[in-house]
Amino acid sequence: MSGMVPNMAIPVHVAPAVFDLDGWAGERLAQVERALDRWVTADVPQGLNHGAPAELVAAMRYAVLDGGKRLRPLLVLAAHEAVCEEDCDTCLSAALRAACAVELIHAYSLVHDDMPCMDNDVLRRGKPTVHVQFGEASALLAGDALQALAFELLTPQDGSVAPTVQANLCGLLARAAGSAGMAGGQAIDLASVGSPLTESQLREMHELKTGALLQASVVMGAYCGAPEPDTLQALQAYGAAIGLAFQVVDDILDVTADSTTLGKTAGKDADNHKPTYVSLMGLQASQAYAQQLLTQARLALDGSGLSQTQTRALRALADMVVNRAH
Ligand code: IPE
Ligand code: IPE
Ligand code: MG
Ligand code: MG
Ligand code: MG
Repeated sequence: MSGMVPNMAIPVHVAPAVFDLDGWAGERLAQVERALDRWVTADVPQGLNHGAPAELVAAMRYAVLDGGKRLRPLLVLAAHEAVCEEDCDTCLSAALRAACAVELIHAYSLVHDDMPCMDNDVLRRGKPTVHVQFGEASALLAGDALQALAFELLTPQDGSVAPTVQANLCGLLARAAGSAGMAGGQAIDLASVGSPLTESQLREMHELKTGALLQASVVMGAYCGAPEPDTLQALQAYGAAIGLAFQVVDDILDVTADSTTLGKTAGKDADNHKPTYVSLMGLQASQAYAQQLLTQARLALDGSGLSQTQTRALRALADMVVNRAH
C-alpha cells in the first residue's frame, strides 16, 4: 500500500449553511393562511362558525385574514419544530391549531386596541380598522368571538389532540391573554396615559401587554412536542426576551417608520401621551436595549440543550423581531 495517500480525514472548514427564513416561513405562512381561512368562516357545514350571523363573521374575517406578519404562529411552529424530533402528524396538528389560536387572540387584541375607547386608531394592517369598517358594536363582538374561537380551536372533538395537551394549551393561552397577561398590560397602558412610568413599571407593562402572548406562542409550540424541563425553561427565557424586545421595537418604529410602511398610524404614541421606551430612555438607548434583549434570547437558545439546527428558525425569528422595518 506504500505510495498511496494515507487514509486520514482531511480537515475541511465547512461554513454553516445560511438559514433561509423566507423560504422556511413561506410554506408555514401558507399553511396558517389556509387554516385560518377554513376555521374563520360560516361556509363550512358543521364548521366552527356555522349558523353565525354573516355580518359578525365578515368582521372576524376582516380582522384576521390577509394581513399581519403572523409572527406568533411562526413562533409556535418554530418552537414545535425545535423540540419535536420527528414529523409526527398528531403534534403537528396540535401545533397548527395552537398557531392559529394565538393569532386569533392577537387579532382580537388589535381590534379592541384600535377602538375609540382605547387607542382610537383608524388604520390597521393597511386597511381601515374594524370599528371604522363595521361600527363599534360589531368590532367589540368580533373581538369577543375571535377570542372564544381561539379556545374552540384548541379543543377539537375529533380526537386529533390529546385531552392533556388541549388542557395545557388552553391554560397557557388563557393566562397569557387574561388579566395577568395581555388584558392586564392593556389596562396598565390605559391607566398610564400622560403619567411617566419608571423603567421597571414600563417593563412590566410591556411584558404583560405584548410579551406574554409572544412567550406563550413559544411555550405552546414546545408543549405540542414533549420538551425536557431544561429546554422548556430555556425557551421560556427566549420567549420572555423576544416578547419584551418586540414591544420595545414597536415603540421605536412608532417614531422612526411611516404609516405606509407600518400599515398603522405612525406617531400615535406621542400623540396619545403613552409612556414608551423611546419616551423613557430615548431612541438610541431603546435601540441598544433591543439588541441587548436579542443577545439574551440567543444565549437562552445556546443553553437550551437544542442544536443550532434545531433552533435555527427561532434564532432567525429573534433577529427579525429586533431588526425588522415594520
Ligand atoms: C402589533 O403587533 C401590536 C403589538 C403587540 C405591538 P404586530 O406588529 O405583530 O402586528 P401584525 O400582526 O403584524 O399586524
Ligand atoms: C398593543 O400595543 C398591544 C396589544 C396588546 C394589542 P400598541 O397599542 O403599541 O400596538 P399598536 O402600535 O397599536 O399596534
Ligand atoms: Mg395600545
Ligand atoms: Mg395601539
Ligand atoms: Mg405601538
